[in-house]
Amino acid sequence: MKYSRLFSPIEINGMVLRNRSVMPAIGTAYGNMDSTVSERYVRFLAARARGGTGLIVTEVCAVTPRGKGFPNEIGAWSDDFIPSLAMIPEALHKEGACAALQLHHAGRETTEFATGAMPEAPSAIPSVILQQPCEEMSLDRIAVVVDAYGKAALRAKQAGFDAVEIHGAHGYLITQFMSPFSNRRQDAYGGTDEKRARFALETVESVRGCVGKDFPVIIRVSGDEMIRGGYDLQFMKWLAPQLVAAGVDAIHVSVGVYSTPGNLTIASMETEPGFNLFRARAVKELVDVPVIGVGRINRPEQAEEALANGDADLISFGRQHLTDPDFMNKARSGDLDDIRWCVACNQGCIERLTFEMKSATCTFNPVCGREFKETAAAGTGSAGARKKVWVIGAGPAGLSAALAAAEAGHEVEVFEKGARPGGQLLPASAPPHKDAFLGWVDWIVRQLDKRGVKVRLDDEVSAGRLQENTPDAVILATGSYPVAAPIPGIGSTYVVDARDVLTGKVNVTGPAVILGAGYVGMETAEFLLVKGVKTSVIEMLARPPVGKETAHGYWLHKRIREAGGRLMFGATVKNIGNDTVDFTQQGQDMSEPAATVITAMGARPLNSLEESLKSLKVPYVTVGDVKSPRRLLEAIHEGHRAGREI
Ligand SMILES: Cc1cc2nc3c(=O)[nH]c(=O)nc-3n(C[C@H](O)[C@H](O)[C@H](O)COP(=O)(O)OP(=O)(O)OC[C@H]3O[C@@H](n4cnc5c(N)ncnc54)[C@H](O)[C@@H]3O)c2cc1C
Ligand SMILES: Cc1cc2nc3c(=O)[nH]c(=O)nc-3n(C[C@H](O)[C@H](O)[C@H](O)COP(=O)(O)O)c2cc1C
Ligand code: SF4
Repeated sequence: MKYSRLFSPIEINGMVLRNRSVMPAIGTAYGNMDSTVSERYVRFLAARARGGTGLIVTEVCAVTPRGKGFPNEIGAWSDDFIPSLAMIPEALHKEGACAALQLHHAGRETTEFATGAMPEAPSAIPSVILQQPCEEMSLDRIAVVVDAYGKAALRAKQAGFDAVEIHGAHGYLITQFMSPFSNRRQDAYGGTDEKRARFALETVESVRGCVGKDFPVIIRVSGDEMIRGGYDLQFMKWLAPQLVAAGVDAIHVSVGVYSTPGNLTIASMETEPGFNLFRARAVKELVDVPVIGVGRINRPEQAEEALANGDADLISFGRQHLTDPDFMNKARSGDLDDIRWCVACNQGCIERLTFEMKSATCTFNPVCGREFKETAAAGTGSAGARKKVWVIGAGPAGLSAALAAAEAGHEVEVFEKGARPGGQLLPASAPPHKDAFLGWVDWIVRQLDKRGVKVRLDDEVSAGRLQENTPDAVILATGSYPVAAPIPGIGSTYVVDARDVLTGKVNVTGPAVILGAGYVGMETAEFLLVKGVKTSVIEMLARPPVGKETAHGYWLHKRIREAGGRLMFGATVKNIGNDTVDFTQQGQDMSEPAATVITAMGARPLNSLEESLKSLKVPYVTVGDVKSPRRLLEAIHEGHRAGREI
């Protein structure tokens, strides 16, 4: 077998895993509002177990209501939860995977809205990111919480789980106690390394005491907080053997906390695959229990290499499990071309969960989180009557719609006026670190090809064409066109659009001035700066539309500044002259030299075919940017639903 190490079994204190692949905890917000486990969550996990992974760790599960990180986080703080928790191991065992419950207390990294009470922490220092005030835990309260971890672990065992994972990572309560940054106590739980480690060690002892010696206990730690004033890898190397002595059977070495610059815990596309493995290896060299490595490892060959190098004994594939639940089975059978890869965009999963307060999914996998609704398996033909479906536009929305319609059993044809499929994904994948986005286009075109669906390139659908040859139904996915504000001089020949710059249609001579600092403007700036073109960006809004709180946003700002790019906010462009852009900022008239002016000012729907469809009375549905210009997630998910339901 090609990945013989990855597919070899391993035992952790009596728990035998069929392979070395771990699905680490992924908070989904699929739970019920009373913190019981939902059918939706069970179906989501079962799909990953069916996909061939060895161990599945649940999302965070609160050991006390005050430890919840979000309102519908699942809970294990009373025996009443046992029947609902039991649904998880029951479902996963049927699919051949083992199940671990992740025991969690968020400490200060939560909100009063989620906990229903003032959050508690080692010291009353609000979270850097959330800024929610919190209360210092008394010694009595510490004892209660340590005990709660143990009791929750016992409930996991009673519910049929194969193991528990203590969440000691990512800046939650246990990390907060370990950290000199968030723990300023001067009592038995703070002040020295030994005292800051005490809460973690007592928690492990409490869990071990409750579950007995033969039940696997894993701890997840951040190998390094990666913040100024936090603990580092040296501290974790010192602590790891003590965690083993206190009773853990495996250590899962993650990295970072909420305020780690660039969110390395859930590292974005700009971070190298396997960047955190050296920390797993550092811990592994000091302990005699299995170590789990994690961090931007998607590909089986990367995992195989890490196992061969002795970096870790098991490998966590986090977001890859969201993008393609079947990737392990596909890897085993050698169908790597059929794997849909996670591109580490973070948009559909963690950013949706944390910034949009919506349940997690994956930009590129429209079924992620809908497993409970989409009962018909792909390719089983859920269409009532086989229809002749035309999909107009081979951008993300059209391609996604075509695949779903073909899987539902329809006769599908895709028309694309351009020479390549992909729509705006072609310019979107041109900036640094975004080339992997194009991999999805290759993947979906291959899937369409397998189902006999033709993507007709250089084939524009006109109103006349629709009149001549009427399909049973149309999925209109013609996308959007870029627009620019009516600034004097905007029609000049040296004013070009960002999409044309990124696809190489126009060659840019510097200095370049980009109008608009949304993602398109910022990414175009970086694209030009790495080519050595002097670039400035002018934005009307006073605050950057691309925030630094997302990993991609953080890196974009940093790299543009480091490359010498100028970012100007609160600046209103008045005129585009021959070789300058004139603008006002804070009441002052200014001008920026410009040989090329690039517009990145938004888009409008390209919906000119809608009227013809209406007058011809052809049933149609609009999906993606043609409905209203938004993002890949909306395009791919809407396309999928339209294809399924047409
Ligand atoms: C530079 C850039 C970066 C971006 N980065 C991101 C990102 O990181 N994340 C994100 O979520 N979104 C991003 N977006 C937005 C995202 O790409 C779009 O929201 C998405 O592509 C919309 O998909 P769509 O299929 O609806 O439309 P499009 O991608 O516009 O595709 C429409 C297709 O229809 C074709 N077409 C139009 N009319 C006809 C016709 N009459 N006959 C045949 N074919 C026709 C077009 O040629 C085109 O190929 C980015 C956009 C740009 C420009
Ligand atoms: C949406 C989302 C939710 C997460 N929730 C948790 C969680 O509940 N507990 C946890 O320990 N880690 C959580 N993580 C971190 C992942 O377990 C994993 O460590 C991280 O995604 C890095 O692995 P990857 O690069 O393979 O995705 C979450 C990650 C994502 C994307
Ligand atoms: S949304 Fe992006 S980062 Fe998250 S799982 Fe999907 S591809 Fe990966």
